[in-house]
Amino acid sequence: MNIVEITLDNLNVDAFIEEKAREISSTVGNGYAVNALSGGVDSAVVTMLGHKALGSRLKSYFIDSGLMREGEPRQIVDWFAELGIVVEIVDAQKDFFGALKGKTDPEKKREAITQTFYKKVFGELVRKSRAKYLLQGTNFTDIEETVAGVKRQHNILEQLGIDPQEHFGYKVLEPLIEVRKPAIRLIGKAAGLQKEIYSRPPFPGPALAARVIGEVTPERVALVRKATTIVEKALSNSDAFQYLAILHEERVTGVRDNKRDFGLQIEIRCWDSEDALTASPTRLPYETLIRMADDVVENVPGVVSVTYNITKKPPSTIEPV
Ligand code: XMP
Repeated sequence: MNIVEITLDNLNVDAFIEEKAREISSTVGNGYAVNALSGGVDSAVVTMLGHKALGSRLKSYFIDSGLMREGEPRQIVDWFAELGIVVEIVDAQKDFFGALKGKTDPEKKREAITQTFYKKVFGELVRKSRAKYLLQGTNFTDIEETVAGVKRQHNILEQLGIDPQEHFGYKVLEPLIEVRKPAIRLIGKAAGLQKEIYSRPPFPGPALAARVIGEVTPERVALVRKATTIVEKALSNSDAFQYLAILHEERVTGVRDNKRDFGLQIEIRCWDSEDALTASPTRLPYETLIRMADDVVENVPGVVSVTYNITKKPPSTIEPV
């Protein structure tokens, strides 16, 4: 890997922002670029850098893959509207669910999402907007994990030997590739993002598909989305690095109204971590765990078991897929 990390100690935030904006501006020239917001910090920071460099020649989209959290598309559009940045929502739910249909293997699911994003959805957006560049928020940890073979992060292309120009018809610019999450938050703050955005817990590019074990269908995503809302509400005031709900594939026997109910399992994870490379389960109060379990059973149809992960990364990973 020939990308050199800029550590927090070596980061001059203002100089970084100026330099990256200059680089984007000189690469794109008088042309257009596109980028997609995902709800995560990284893509939000890229939007700020790209906007600083290109103004309205950067077209920002929110791809509604059908895999996002409750109310996320509208929330992102509203946050950026406050900053004077227009974000257009693109409904691509059919494309994503079509590509994921029948797939259960984690890497095949990730590959399906990559292809749908880059080839189908961005391919069309780039053609429509006459852009030659896609700006995206790949960070140093994404590269490291993909190169180490832990997981194929959905936004990694060149390190896997994929030339985006050849495969998809556009070039990819990655201004955050040398920095990790804590640095990205500082850059976001200095670039003018609201605290709600720059301090958001990380959220994976494949969105809730990273939290559905087995086939990703609209119905199964709806279940994990409900559980996610409950877990995020319960833990948003914790100092944890990241927290999530997972829908398991296997059913287990439960009992409801004195009858057997072969039902669903939801797993909750909550992590303490610095940079997601290693992580430990947060020692949440038992009352918080019980409250979340009760809420999930009450509000997510068919759930008969709620568990809390107590395994460190490694050997666990933050997301189950
Ligand atoms: P894992 O599950 O590998 O996750 O321990 C490490 C961190 O990366 C996030 N994550 C992703 N982010 N694309 C992303 O943009 C992905 O494909 C992806 N997979 C995992 C995860 O949420 C955690 O913060």
